[in-house]
Amino acid sequence: MSDSGDVDRLVEEARAARERAYAPYSNFLVGAAVATDRGVFTGANVENASYSLAICAERVAAAAAVASGARRIEAVAVLGALRDPKTGDDVPKEPTPPCGACRQFLYEFNPDMTVVAVGSNGKRNQWRLSELLKDGFGPKDLQAS
Ligand code: THU
Repeated sequence: MSDSGDVDRLVEEARAARERAYAPYSNFLVGAAVATDRGVFTGANVENASYSLAICAERVAAAAAVASGARRIEAVAVLGALRDPKTGDDVPKEPTPPCGACRQFLYEFNPDMTVVAVGSNGKRNQWRLSELLKDGFGPKDLQAS
């Protein structure tokens, strides 16, 4: 995805999804949106009283897309930031990249996808997924040579 207007729209979808995050334990609310061969899908992080069961926004978005028939992800936008539970305000912070598990999960659906992270300070970082996960393990590695 190279058109900056498309990236801007994806970022706005992720921002809206973030408002639906369920993160009462970390107060780190994350929204994600993926642009796919079947359109745009969104997700937010979902935490659990059994802390280790938390699911990241990126994987929720990717799983929603794949469960709706998508097989290729062109781009993912992620917005993550702490929200002060007392004031309801976001704490200004640099963009945060996807975690290692999400990098691997997304790699399956296009190692060259664009990854855009937006901080609550308004800054934006952009990469190819293959830069964030170099020489990753993917479907090609399960093919007989
Ligand atoms: N989280 C995400 O949703 N995406 C990331 O890339 C990093 C972390 C979530 C998981 C957990 O609910 C909270 O952020 C704090 O780690």
